[in-house]
Amino acid sequence: MVEFSRHGAVFQNMDYSEIDSRGEAIAKMIDEKTGEGNDFLGWLDYASRLPEEEIARIEKTAKRIRENYDALVVIGIGGSYLGARAMIEAVNGFFPEDKLEIIYLGNTLSSTYTAQVIRHLRNKKFAINVISKSGTTTEPAVAFRLLKEMLIQRFGKAYLKDAVIATTDRAKGALKMEADKEGYECFVIPDDIGGRFSVITPVGLLPVACANIDIRAFLQGVKDAEKDYSGHDYKKNPAYFYAATRYLLHVQKKFTSEMFVSYELQNKMIEEWLKQLFDESEGKEGKALLCSSGVFTTDLHSMGQFIQQGSPVLFETIIKEKNPNLDVEVPSDERNLDNLNYLAGKNLSYINDKAYQATLEAHTEGHSPAMVISIDRMDAYNIGNLFYFFFRATAFSAYLLGVNPFNQPGVEIYKHNMFKLLGKPGVK
Ligand code: PA5
Repeated sequence: MVEFSRHGAVFQNMDYSEIDSRGEAIAKMIDEKTGEGNDFLGWLDYASRLPEEEIARIEKTAKRIRENYDALVVIGIGGSYLGARAMIEAVNGFFPEDKLEIIYLGNTLSSTYTAQVIRHLRNKKFAINVISKSGTTTEPAVAFRLLKEMLIQRFGKAYLKDAVIATTDRAKGALKMEADKEGYECFVIPDDIGGRFSVITPVGLLPVACANIDIRAFLQGVKDAEKDYSGHDYKKNPAYFYAATRYLLHVQKKFTSEMFVSYELQNKMIEEWLKQLFDESEGKEGKALLCSSGVFTTDLHSMGQFIQQGSPVLFETIIKEKNPNLDVEVPSDERNLDNLNYLAGKNLSYINDKAYQATLEAHTEGHSPAMVISIDRMDAYNIGNLFYFFFRATAFSAYLLGVNPFNQPGVEIYKHNMFKLLGKPGVK
């Protein structure tokens, strides 16, 4: 279970009476599935319902990929890739000593990035996990076509049958049709779980298992979280208390932006995942906080000035692990030309922790209050627990704002314009 704390003078006179009167009804509405968008609440108990055979099949497929290929290309965008990448980078870091390389494609229309990935893959024996709930999203569909073509040229069409795994809808969409026709192995994204909540399904589980991360520990973290964050009394439920507090910082204290902060570079994608979760769930009807992100101390050397003394628009939500996954010690140097001997023998994590304490004090005494969400360490179990904490918080927070947390009508508008410009058949 996460630990949650608030820091800053603004909390001393925060008035929670609105939540006192609405909180329980919203909590019940989530569990009883009576609110707007309630047909997308499958994530509430998905981990507990996931059959053993499905977990075992994911593990078996991951083992096969790990044993037979140099690389796995995960093709997907938004909710169909961010969660898996967030977990893989947070747990394995940037330079894992692992023989299976994980590469992401279909998350952009950048021709330069795509061409670079294709060049990078030209001598590799790689597999593809193509992930798309709708099965029709342009970015992953184009990337998939490019890589299929490349593999057919190099190895012939028969190679694709074992090398491609499709994660998509149970029955509909172009990807499902193609997978059935070509005989690709398929994993299902349930109808009642939207993209940004799908990291706990095969969308996240298969790439994460391929990255040699323990998906059973992850699912246990999610299952424990189902109990940890289900209470209807928002004051006793850290997910709801956090959601209530961020809501009040917005509507009562007039902050307009929430900055997710980590002190670990490899957690950057967790913040990207969080931005999608909250911005896509809440940014509707002219409402909601804008979520942004920062990795400290890195960004203290770029945005730190603004946070300390610029316009007072943001508060911080810091994701803090108590123990780093790895550590290094500062060596002693007889000559001490860099004057760093006062740090000799200290771990880098110790120095990072002092930076955290110092920054928390500086920012909260300035005009940026902070909430801290602490976990023991960034391992599979704790990430599972943390992700689910944020699922619950998002649902509660969006319902407080009065918006449907589970749709994203605004995203379709640019797509329609783009298809019109591209001359897609049937689009006017
Ligand atoms: O959360 C969402 O719904 C989106 O981010 C989608 O996951 C994203 O647009 C990709 O859609 P699809 O999985 O249908 O390709």
